[in-house]
Amino acid sequence: MRIPFLVLITILLLSLQVQCNASSFGRDKETNILFYLHNIHAEKDSSSVLVAQNTNATAHPRGFVPFSYVYVFDDVITDGPAITSKVIGNAQGTYIGTSKDGYTILMAIDVEITHGPFNGSSFVLFSRNPLRSTRELPVIGGRGAFRMAQGYGMLRTVCVHCLNSVNPPKGDVIEYNVTLWHH
Ligand SMILES: *[C@@H]1O[C@H](CO)[C@@H](O)[C@H](O)[C@H]1NC(C)=O
Ligand SMILES: *[C@@H]1O[C@H](CO)[C@@H](O)[C@H](O)[C@H]1NC(C)=O
Ligand SMILES: *[C@@H]1O[C@H](CO)[C@@H](O)[C@H](O)[C@H]1NC(C)=O
Repeated sequence: MRIPFLVLITILLLSLQVQCNASSFGRDKETNILFYLHNIHAEKDSSSVLVAQNTNATAHPRGFVPFSYVYVFDDVITDGPAITSKVIGNAQGTYIGTSKDGYTILMAIDVEITHGPFNGSSFVLFSRNPLRSTRELPVIGGRGAFRMAQGYGMLRTVCVHCLNSVNPPKGDVIEYNVTLWHH
């Protein structure tokens, strides 16, 4: 039996469309959130604390986050790079020194938004984070408005151990430019 060419093309196009719809899972909204994370290392009231390390790594620490160091953090996120900027949420998670040279961490970070239309919703980024370059972290999911979200975050270090008039506590400021696709 010969199938007419046009019928064949139509079937092909229809099946392609079904595949496209299935792969996006109805994530038809695109949201861009730009924020600044303040990872504060202070004598008192740090937002980021060292909780474990291997003794041999401690004897020969290298890089920014020595191999095996485990940190837990609860960081404020703001809409501008200064700590005095408007607080728009918080980021909780952990990072671990996973490279022997001390320049790459493995990061699990849950970002909860506490203002605006996404108040109460959060999204999660998880992957390795090579600290010396511009880096991309995948968004692997979320809650609330960001349920089943996917996307990516582009990270840029604004300053390390910054201590100045706009950032009085000693800390690192990281810019997160996150693009999310969600329902
Ligand atoms: C540190 O290195 C020594 C010598 O290689 C080893 O015996 C010891 O188990 C190591 N300690 C830890 C906590 O890994
Ligand atoms: C965000 O939601 C919480 C819980 O519903 C509420 O208490 C709070 O006032 C909201 N914040 C803003 C800025 O809307
Ligand atoms: C953030 O990412 C968006 C989307 O890629 C881009 O249009 C925007 O210029 C970026 N903003 C900054 C400050 O890098």
